[in-house]
Order: sequence, then structure tokens, then C-alpha cells
Amino acid sequence: MSEVPDLSGRTAVVTGAGRGIGLAVAEQLARCGAHVLTLRTAGEEEGHTAAASGQRVRGDRMDDVPCDLAELAQVGRAARDIIGLTGGRVDILVNNAGVAALPPTRSADGHEAHFAINHLGHFALTGHLLPALLNAPQPRVVNVTSVLHWLGRFRPDQAATPRRYHRWTAYFDSKLANLLFTHGLHAFAGARGLPLRSVAAHPGLVDTTLGSRGLRADARHLEARALEWTQARRHSPEQGALSLLRAATDPHIGGGGLLGPGGPGECSGPPVPARAARRATDPRAAERLWQLSQHLTGHPFPADGSKPARDRGENR
Ligand SMILES: NC(=O)c1ccc[n+]([C@@H]2O[C@H](COP(=O)([O-])OP(=O)(O)OC[C@H]3O[C@@H](n4cnc5c(N)ncnc54)[C@H](OP(=O)(O)O)[C@@H]3O)[C@@H](O)[C@H]2O)c1
Repeated sequence: MSEVPDLSGRTAVVTGAGRGIGLAVAEQLARCGAHVLTLRTAGEEEGHTAAASGQRVRGDRMDDVPCDLAELAQVGRAARDIIGLTGGRVDILVNNAGVAALPPTRSADGHEAHFAINHLGHFALTGHLLPALLNAPQPRVVNVTSVLHWLGRFRPDQAATPRRYHRWTAYFDSKLANLLFTHGLHAFAGARGLPLRSVAAHPGLVDTTLGSRGLRADARHLEARALEWTQARRHSPEQGALSLLRAATDPHIGGGGLLGPGGPGECSGPPVPARAARRATDPRAAERLWQLSQHLTGHPFPADGSKPARDRGENR
């Protein structure tokens, strides 16, 4: 991780930073000098927070911000807290938090949980933080996706309220949405001449708790074999973090780009530019997802692209 440059004076926000890949990203950004705001769900026990862990890494460079991305009102409040804690400037936003293979679950706002947590919460957070991002000279947003986005579909009429539910399909679709959002945000910034760079990264196959509860509780034959196959190929959260860190800091990564591990099957290896499915870069689908997400989250992004007022945070 030595390739991450000195980040002194920069501020980074990382969602899902209480454990797993997000924790590894947050710790490394703090080690490199950034002030890191770590979003975590409020239920996490004290002493296991990213900030507590980060304090072992480097002094007081990490602050925890409680936020359940499954509740849009909390997202608005968290954005206001972040703006207060950072003095209104965010250089890097890493939209990393995620859930997988949940039983049928709705968010506090009534949306399918994978779509709500993995996509809508991050869409709203990014929109609410746009003023702070635009106060940084070279702001960057990193959306965390997966190679499994290749199996995803975007159905505008069913994304938030699917008629038929499968827990893995819901995850695949949400990871496709992460890439469509990356492209939608890239287009939004480009059309308005904003200096914001929107990029995506996937970590490969990583040894974390993601999806494991669902698998252990109810592993069918095919899933059990898939789990066995993936377990043999997983790398550590620190290694999985590398593509996110490069996406967050490498000045040569262009807007709309995707990074992932360069080894066989993109499971592990050093971060390199990766290929996205064609339907994940379709500008019409990106625009439809953008409009749908604006509608479902209370329009956190300003239509005219002007620097929005800082107090737009809580509109849901
Ligand atoms: N692991 C892999 O092999 C793999 C592969 C491809 C992509 N990814 C992606 O990598 C990202 C990180 O996953 P991981 O493997 O590190 O998983 P993980 O260890 O299970 O961590 C998930 C993180 O997301 C947070 N989170 C979950 N629900 C949330 C909610 N409602 N509101 C706020 N935060 C929430 C969790 O917060 P709490 O700790 O507070 O619960 C946790 O910090 C995800 O986007 C995932 O899709 C992972």
C-alpha cells in the first residue's frame, strides 16, 4: 500500500468502515495523513469502531459518524455531521458499505434492502455531500462494486420493489447499480463542468463477513459449492482494499473508470483497470437510475448543477 501518496490536509469519508474492506481502506488513508470520517451503523459496540482501531494506527485522524444507510433521514443527518466535522470540505468519498444475500428485507423507507443500502443510501449521501466535495480542489467519489455486477440487471420498475425476490440476484443488481451510478455521476459532473471525478473499484474475493450469515443459515447445494470455491481464492481485506485505495488516490484514473485486482478471474492481485459489463456503462440506463434515485431519495442532487446550499441535508 506504499503507493498511496501523502494525504496530509485531505479529508476522506469511508462508509462501512467498522470492519472488512472499509476498515482497511480507512486505516490506510489515515496512515497516509488524511482525516478520515468512518460511517458505521449505530449498533456497533464501542471499542470495535473504525475510529477506535484507527487510533491505534495514527493519533486522532479518524472520527466515527453513526449512520444506517437503510434510513434516508439518517443519511441526511450523517452528511450534516460530516460537514460539521470537516469544516465543509471532503476530498475523497468511498461508498463501500454493503450487504449481500439477505432474506427479503425492506429499508426504513420501504425499498428493497440491497438496493437501498448498497445504492440508494450512497446516492443520497453523495448528493448531500456534493457541496463539501466541491469545496475540495480535486474531489473524488469511489463506488465499490463487484465482478458479480456482470450477473446484475437494472429494471427501473422493480429495482426498489421487486416482484420476485432472490437474495443473490438482489445483490448482483445492486452492484450493477453501483456502476451505473458511477457513470451517472461522471455524466452529471461532466455536463456541469464540475471538477468531481467519479470512479469505481471492486476488491476481488475477500475474506470478510459479507453474505456469510445468509450462506451459513441456509446454504443450498450450489451455494455451498460456490462458497467452497470462493473461500479457496479469497485474499485479505488489506489486499482487497488496494483497488479502492488506488481508485481513491491515483491521479491517472479517469472519471468513469473501474479498477480491480489483476490476477486470474480478478479474484486477487495488484489493482489494474478492469472491464465492466456493457449494461453497466449504458448511458440511458445510468440516466434512468439517476432519475429514479433522485425521486426515491428526495432529490439530493441539484437539477441545475449549481453549488447547492450546505443545509440541504435532511429532506427525507
Ligand atoms: N468480500 C468480498 O469478497 C467482496 C467482493 C466484491 C465486492 N465487495 C464489496 O465490498 C464492500 C465491503 O464489503 P466487505 O466484504 O468488507 O463486507 P463486510 O465485512 O460485511 O462489511 C460490510 C460493511 O458495510 C456496513 N453496512 C452494512 N449495512 C449497513 C447499513 N445499513 N448502513 C451502514 N453501513 C452498513 C457494515 O457496517 P457495520 O459494521 O456497522 O455493520 C460493514 O462495515 C461491499 O460493497 C461489497 O459489496 C466485497
